[in-house]
Amino acid sequence: MPEAVGGADTAARLEAWRRRIDEVLETALADHPAAERRLGEAMRHAVLLGGKRMRPLLVYAAGTAFGADESALDAPAAAIELIHAYSLVHDDLPAMDDDALRRGQPTVHVAFDEATAILAGDALQSLAFATLADAACGDSARVAMLRELASAAGAHGMCGGQALDLAATGRSASSDIDALERLHALKTGALIRAAVRMGAIAADATDDDRVRLDAYADALGLAFQIRDDLLDVEGESATLGKTAGKDAAQDKATFPALIGIDASRARLAGLGAAMDASLAPFGARAAELATLGSLAIHRSH
Ligand code: IPE
Ligand code: IPE
Ligand code: MG
Ligand code: MG
Ligand code: MG
Repeated sequence: MPEAVGGADTAARLEAWRRRIDEVLETALADHPAAERRLGEAMRHAVLLGGKRMRPLLVYAAGTAFGADESALDAPAAAIELIHAYSLVHDDLPAMDDDALRRGQPTVHVAFDEATAILAGDALQSLAFATLADAACGDSARVAMLRELASAAGAHGMCGGQALDLAATGRSASSDIDALERLHALKTGALIRAAVRMGAIAADATDDDRVRLDAYADALGLAFQIRDDLLDVEGESATLGKTAGKDAAQDKATFPALIGIDASRARLAGLGAAMDASLAPFGARAAELATLGSLAIHRSH
């Protein structure tokens, strides 16, 4: 996949969606003030201080490619980012990855305290589902999106993947590549697939289109985490906005640890080709999806 796919129109559309989701998230957090001020501030810290917004952009890109209105995509786009933000707050806790830096800021448990970080994550998850329950679409699409997000976030999705990650931490040498792919598919892939699927649900895409979109999303999810693993080895904390070198220090099961840097890069290139192949039949309407796939592979943070 080339480094820059899509033209100026594509870049402008992605930038407009970035601004749009920031406004939607700001409203979601302003309209649901927490009972306790410090909790509300921690939630805002977790969500509003940066982040690439990859998952919301995937919702807008998948949805509009198949004819959904942007207004029907605001709620699922916000909901997936709220779940993602909660997953990061908990991922950074001392009991998990014990990280002090996230999105160039102190992590929530450092800026506030551990109990507040736990509650902020919990409350962001609730807010995600409350937001999605108000999606501007028909009842059956809304229920299908709620089911999709719940399943992707839970024990058979992100939480299950995080549990596998923790179980493998400190014993990366005993992981094999199939187990690592499954771990990555759950901890990171599940939410990425749900983002694309919610766009497809809002657009009422055909079954055939959904199969292709799933194949694209699965390649993207794995690529996204392999790139994350590589950046932990090759990147710098200032650019990443999070502490580099943590995975090796904690003996995390990662692609570079298991197969080395060159083989990890080769795997990324293969996943780029898989994304291209999945999107090819969609032609120009998949330009934003293709650009997001390319970003996942080539990103520097
Ligand atoms: C970080 O996700 C955690 C992973 C799943 C690799 P992102 O790289 O999307 O983090 P933000 O949202 O841009 O901060
Ligand atoms: C996190 O994976 C995936 C989540 C579900 C949050 P990592 O632990 O590798 O993410 P970073 O590197 O801390 O962002
Ligand atoms: Mg982690
Ligand atoms: Mg982490
Ligand atoms: Mg990481």
